[in-house]
Amino acid sequence: MKILLLGPPGAGRSTQAQRLSEKLNYLPISTGDMIRAQMIAGTELGRRIESYYGRGELVPDEAILELVLPNLEPSGRWVLDGFPRTEAQARALDAALERRGIGLSRAILLEAPDEDVISRVVGRRYSLTTGRVYHVEQDPPPDFKARQDEGPFMQREDDTEDAIRRQLEIYHREASILTGYYEGKGILATVDARKTIPEVTESILEALQTPRKS
Ligand code: AP5
Repeated sequence: MKILLLGPPGAGRSTQAQRLSEKLNYLPISTGDMIRAQMIAGTELGRRIESYYGRGELVPDEAILELVLPNLEPSGRWVLDGFPRTEAQARALDAALERRGIGLSRAILLEAPDEDVISRVVGRRYSLTTGRVYHVEQDPPPDFKARQDEGPFMQREDDTEDAIRRQLEIYHREASILTGYYEGKGILATVDARKTIPEVTESILEALQTPRKS
């Protein structure tokens, strides 16, 4: 299975990619994590893209493709989180997969209203050790004393209400084009991401069992 998760920032893509990795051994491939790793390492690519990231804008397609495409193992089972975000990225992904003789199994759209995702992003924390994502109320980080291996728990610099509102504006400009693209291919499934984290995981697993439309 090769799947991708679509949805607004804060809908729970990373959270669900983690759950799919734990339950079904999917390799999560997150463009946001890849970008942050490049910036922290101070690579040439990282320097090229940091101003876009800092402004909450989309990083140019060319840089994103350079990061993602080499990681798509033809025989692997992976879940894309945060990619593609533009039609050009979607088309480049299809072309790269076709060259390798493989295709996407499912595009899962996680749907949630803006106000919900804003409060999720503002309360998000992540483990500096493992990268795992938590929420201060909905999915609190484990007691630091009990799980010292996972701490400390940090807040992303772009997890502010202003930044998320900017990212949502950009998301809404591209979203219908992307969902239309995957609907046209018969592989789009929509999941109600307002539910609890385990319920959303269950809905995704159900969607993966449902035959694709021809
Ligand atoms: P990225 O890192 O992808 O950030 P994002 O788009 O802001 O998405 P998030 O990580 O915020 O959302 P998520 O859906 O993964 O939510 P999460 O699971 O963490 O991208 C950052 C930047 O990189 C972009 O702005 C852009 O500049 C650049 N970029 C990345 N990819 C790009 C691309 N392809 N092209 C161009 N530029 C690109 O959950 C959020 C919170 O909610 C957590 O606290 C979680 O615990 C909680 N939560 C999750 N699910 C639930 C639930 N069901 N109920 C209650 N709480 C929940």
